[in-house]
Amino acid sequence: MEIRKVGVVGCGLMGSGIAEVSAKAGFDVVVREIDQGAVAAGRNRVEKSLARAVARGKLEESSRDEALARTIFTTSLEKMVGCDLIIEAIVESLEAKNELFTQLDGICSQDAIFASNTSSLTVTDMAAATSRPDRFVGLHFFNPVPVMKLVEVVRTIATSQETFDAAFAFAGAVGKTPIAAKDNSGFVVNLLLVPYMLDAIRQVERGVATIEDIDKAMTLGCGYPMGPFALGDFVGIDTLYRVAEIMYEEYREERYAPPPLLKRLMSMGRYGRKTGAGFYDWTPEGPVALKL
Ligand code: CAA
Ligand code: NAD
Repeated sequence: MEIRKVGVVGCGLMGSGIAEVSAKAGFDVVVREIDQGAVAAGRNRVEKSLARAVARGKLEESSRDEALARTIFTTSLEKMVGCDLIIEAIVESLEAKNELFTQLDGICSQDAIFASNTSSLTVTDMAAATSRPDRFVGLHFFNPVPVMKLVEVVRTIATSQETFDAAFAFAGAVGKTPIAAKDNSGFVVNLLLVPYMLDAIRQVERGVATIEDIDKAMTLGCGYPMGPFALGDFVGIDTLYRVAEIMYEEYREERYAPPPLLKRLMSMGRYGRKTGAGFYDWTPEGPVALKL
């Protein structure tokens, strides 16, 4: 089960990073987005991140050029044919993901491995929609992908040992530290991280402290690189909201329920850094927190 060519579907925050680390590691990469505008935005994300690595002296210019030359950006799903591993990083919706995997299942070779980068859905629910549940695995990367070292490799009850081993080895080959996780909603990290982030929102709603002060508390008091609100804006309010809904639906425990303030941000289209505003307004002068 040799992986040489990698397909990445979705080139937003996560897909762009997964494409970048795969190309830097020497894999041929095909990236699919929904339209030409999204292709241009996705390519720009990869190029900017590679330029940043060159500027910081972490990557040779020639390696950047080679990585880009190994990467094809397209709107055509048919270009996924011939990929040995296809990693999905589209919106966190089971319906959207299953529509995609059903299409891919119809055109890709039976040998190809399918992987999802889902944050909170169960991989089983996607694998079951295809004719290859044995060749279906979770590959959960972390944001920002070029920096975060962990990948959760998720095995369902149907994933073959061969598939799991190939996915585990792939995560290592792109420079990450893989861990094995069972296919429960949230795997390991989000099972702990998501309730923490949602709880921070509830504390603000209760008036315990301001958004800035809770962020200061967790960065200065605990040494976290970002407080929970800056992290929410970094992850994406839309993604965090969908993740909370999915985990709440799965466990029916209040700690996973999306708090009202998160819903209000969704209604206002304040999706975080990606739209310029979330818990903070991300102004050129610096972040300005919502006053509640
Ligand atoms: N892409 C590529 N590289 C990046 C980057 C990006 N978006 N952002 C930062 N970097 C690199 C920088 O180039 C820099 O590298 P060097 O030190 O080698 O020069 C390094 O990261 C540190 O960057 P900065 O000095 O600019 O900024 P920082 O010290 O504030 O770090 C951060 C930025 C790495 C994002 C840090 O704030 C951090 O670790 N934040 C927490 C991230 C986190 O918790 N991620 C998990 C989110 S949850 C998730 O992913 C799962 C899910 O399913 C929702
Ligand atoms: P994002 O909104 O930044 O990007 C999603 C991209 O997918 C968009 O560019 C969209 O145009 C594209 N897309 C949608 N449908 C498509 C299709 N059928 N074909 C091709 N492209 C399509 O989202 P993201 O933050 O990159 O999240 C992607 C996935 O990764 C989600 O499942 C999310 O839960 C998971 N994830 C997110 C984070 C995070 O911190 N944001 C971390 C780990 C995992």
